[in-house]
Amino acid sequence: MAKKLKILIFPDPRLRKVAEKVTKFDKSLQILANDMLETMYDANGIGLAATQVNKHIRLIVMDLSEERNQPKIFVNPSFKILKGHKMYEFEEGCLSIPGFNETIARPDKIELKWQDINGKVHTDTPEGLLTVCIQHEIDHLEGKLMVDYISALKRDRVRNKLLKEYN
Ligand code: NI
Repeated sequence: MAKKLKILIFPDPRLRKVAEKVTKFDKSLQILANDMLETMYDANGIGLAATQVNKHIRLIVMDLSEERNQPKIFVNPSFKILKGHKMYEFEEGCLSIPGFNETIARPDKIELKWQDINGKVHTDTPEGLLTVCIQHEIDHLEGKLMVDYISALKRDRVRNKLLKEYN
């Protein structure tokens, strides 16, 4: 049975750690991925990075389907921005920054590379929501958050509000 993990809330400094590459594709990786999916579904999120549950490895889970029945796991994901891309604006949210939404512009054409849970390498040029979501989650693995794209003033406001609510 998968278990629910605790999600770190901004401005927890552990959200700023840079995640390490996954080199062992063993049972414990599968267990963590399953626990992260459980945690993400329970919190009604569409994506979750291992960093957010205080595991500092390059692992992301996601489900962009309406029916919440298409779990995706990305290990060691990376992307290249493709020529001819435009900036695509999307209102994003984050399970580590509850109650906060902001429109963020990200490149709309990327080449994505990742490994599956068994270590097999895949590449794709995603479209739409997946493009945005994967960039948001890869940011987490780099210790970067949505609030880094907004003004310092606004970021401080979000920080103070969450410190009051969650500490
Ligand atoms: Ni997030």
